[in-house]
Amino acid sequence: MTIEGKTKKNLDMLREMRERAVLGGGQNRIDQQHERGKLTARERLAQLLDEGSFQEFGALATHDFTAFGLDKQRFPGDGVVTGFGKINGRRVAVFSQDFTVMGGSFSEVQSQKICRIQDMALEAGIPVIGLGDSGGARIQEGVRSLAAYGEVFVRNVLASGVVPQISVILGPCAGGAVYSPALTDFIIMAGKGYMFLTGPEVIKAVTGEQVSVEELGGAEVHTGRSGVAHLDAVTEEEGLALVKTLLSYLPQNNSEEPPQIVSEDPVNRMEESLNSLIPDGDNTPYDIRDAIEAIFDHDSFLEIQPNYAANAVVGFARMDGYSVGIVANQPCYMSGALNIDASDKIARFIRLCDAFNVPIVTFIDCPGFLPGTGQEYGGVIRHGAKIIYAYCEATVPKISIVTRKAMGGAYVAMSSRQMRTDITFAWPTGQIAVMGAEGAVNILFREEIKKAADPKAREQELLAEYRERFFNPYRAADVGQIDEVIEPRETRPRLARAMEILRTKVQQNPSKKHGLSPV
Ligand code: HXC
Repeated sequence: MTIEGKTKKNLDMLREMRERAVLGGGQNRIDQQHERGKLTARERLAQLLDEGSFQEFGALATHDFTAFGLDKQRFPGDGVVTGFGKINGRRVAVFSQDFTVMGGSFSEVQSQKICRIQDMALEAGIPVIGLGDSGGARIQEGVRSLAAYGEVFVRNVLASGVVPQISVILGPCAGGAVYSPALTDFIIMAGKGYMFLTGPEVIKAVTGEQVSVEELGGAEVHTGRSGVAHLDAVTEEEGLALVKTLLSYLPQNNSEEPPQIVSEDPVNRMEESLNSLIPDGDNTPYDIRDAIEAIFDHDSFLEIQPNYAANAVVGFARMDGYSVGIVANQPCYMSGALNIDASDKIARFIRLCDAFNVPIVTFIDCPGFLPGTGQEYGGVIRHGAKIIYAYCEATVPKISIVTRKAMGGAYVAMSSRQMRTDITFAWPTGQIAVMGAEGAVNILFREEIKKAADPKAREQELLAEYRERFFNPYRAADVGQIDEVIEPRETRPRLARAMEILRTKVQQNPSKKHGLSPV
């Protein structure tokens, strides 16, 4: 059938407009984007979403500003591609900023498009994925682009804890373009992604300091120093693949459970290597990740923030295909002591797991909170309290395993029995005491040691006595603080059974507007 006349004209016009929309800021700008080593907004979505699943909204929307030459810079879509698609068959809302249109700068129209999919995603209960590549508020739009950010922020916050929100930083994200990601659950930096509030030119003008974008806000800075980002990848493709992996551990929303993925790894597998993991020397380091990898389903461990506060390990894994959140001290970095950064990292992860119905398993080998003025002045009391608050508040199943040291504050703070931990295990190598032997003996027996005929020998005697008495898990088991002392090799089956028991756990917190978690 041939289509003619007015209908043909209409269809031709639509097709032409669609073709223009696909080109964003134009072919030259697309070429520049490629020369910079970056994919375009649409190429990124094609990488991220299941083939043929993308349903776009707002492809033809443009702004109607005229000042500062904006009338000559009208591009369909206005610098962001928005819509819905699927990842491994599960629905997601997506927006992808288009740097080829005025540097992906954030406009009123961009805001309207992003808000629309945020609203729909919240109502439908599906995750929101944002791909960032934007110079921040569109300068020419003045207060209107600033106000437009507020619209997105409020939706980020309302969706927080209801649907997972993941941000991927794939270009220079500046100003408001970093605050929306900072309100989401995960930030992944990949390819040529940078994040900063104020760019190098503004910094130079205000402070005189000269700094490159890499030094200011590259992946190394934000995954290592600042803790702003959670994961990073060398290429954009790898960064987008991380989104798919992350989503596989999470439910679509807070009223669903994470998906169960069929596992080939038998739940009753004994792991003999664990019986010799803990070294003989009390202070000899070992890598807790070796235990995690041996206990949970093969190749299921995804560490989150691996380069930030490495004295704590957090991440997702699976047990019999069920998603688990893991929190652990890391004895091979700073002896696993807790400090300000580790407290923030752990507390945030616990709250994330609790929000999305992911049970938490905690491994404890911690000599305590790091002492010193640096930590005290920095507010370690306030930061450490976040861990306690998060564990006490969390209503998901919680299981803990003391592998070696559980000293003082660390014993209490790291998922102790009284903080609504459901099941507590310890390995025979567990040491549960108020403090380490040297400190305790010095405080309790200072005078006695001083007065002894041979002070050194007496001190050694007292140390041995203290270790004998406290450096085991049996006193804690006696008084019901530890449910069971288990052989390390049987940890996988014991954990699997414990998780099975707790799968239908229901626990409620008192009704309130919200608590005041220390910040
Ligand atoms: C309008 C912008 C823009 C912006 C970039 N462009 N940022 N247009 N508003 N915010 C335009 C450029 O003019 C340029 O257009 C094109 O995008 C590409 O930018 P380049 O500078 O050529 O690219 P590059 O060298 O890669 O540098 C990218 C950049 C830089 C690092 C992002 O453009 C930059 O520093 N921009 C400003 C960043 C910033 O300070 N934003 C904060 C805004 S305030 P032409 O046509 O010349 O190629 C804000 C406050 C919100 O966001 C607060 C909320 C709490």
